[in-house]
Amino acid sequence: MPKMVDFENLSSFYSIKWRNNLVLEEKDSEYQKIIISFNEKIGKTLFLDDVLQICEADVENYNIGLSEKLMEHLSLKFDKIDLLVIGGGDGFLTEFLLNSYKNINSITVVELDKDVISLVNKHFRNNVNVFDNNKVQLKITSGDTYVEECINNNVLFHGIIIDCTDYTNDINNPANVLFSKNFYNNLNKILITNGYLTQQFDTIDTLSTNIDGKYKLRYPKIDIFDEYHFENVNCFSYGSPTYMLHLIKN
Ligand SMILES: C[S@@+](CC[C@H](N)C(=O)[O-])C[C@H]1O[C@@H](n2cnc3c(N)ncnc32)[C@H](O)[C@@H]1O
Repeated sequence: MPKMVDFENLSSFYSIKWRNNLVLEEKDSEYQKIIISFNEKIGKTLFLDDVLQICEADVENYNIGLSEKLMEHLSLKFDKIDLLVIGGGDGFLTEFLLNSYKNINSITVVELDKDVISLVNKHFRNNVNVFDNNKVQLKITSGDTYVEECINNNVLFHGIIIDCTDYTNDINNPANVLFSKNFYNNLNKILITNGYLTQQFDTIDTLSTNIDGKYKLRYPKIDIFDEYHFENVNCFSYGSPTYMLHLIKN
């Protein structure tokens, strides 16, 4: 009997619900509950702890938002580009980067959960492993640990893309370390001069706040980088725009 589930992504002030998802696979990994499912409107989907991560319908927009500005900037400055991707175990971003930019020399992908990699490969690409490419090195560890290793070994990157699960109030959430001041300080150390960093921020809780009767978008200020701005990217499956934070080291 096929199992159908509804997912509701809740925030403090609104929610989006995707109904009638056919479960293709469900697993409790060491870090999170992974569900791969199918929805008639948005295609195959990946949910982690019941939060939508990617779906076939708008993954391309998401990849463009994460990489286009960064690659435009880096392509003007450098001939060959070494990238670090933190998170992104679903492999869609890596696949997109490899197909779209011939000037990429290497992509190092740091993903915490090997089960995300194997289940997405199984259900979205018939077990073809997108990380099995000679330009790609895969590290199964936490982003903060790997960045510290790079500092100790003087490893530098032209560009860094953070494609991770969102910050939450759960103190056990492994993604929370990636939103800390210490982490940005460390990222700054492993970026080359003229390097560029793009990070996806959550769609919901970064949003609006009411300060003294004025509604404003609320963004973190990360002033150790020389330039930064937020960009709003349309991924309709999240129920609100998602935000890309762009940081440049001059
Ligand atoms: C699947 S991607 C997709 C992100 C997504 N598009 C979204 O909506 O948030 C997120 C990945 O980040 C990984 N992740 C979470 N915390 C991490 C950490 N500290 N270091 C490396 N990867 C991490 C998760 O295991 C997950 O596979």
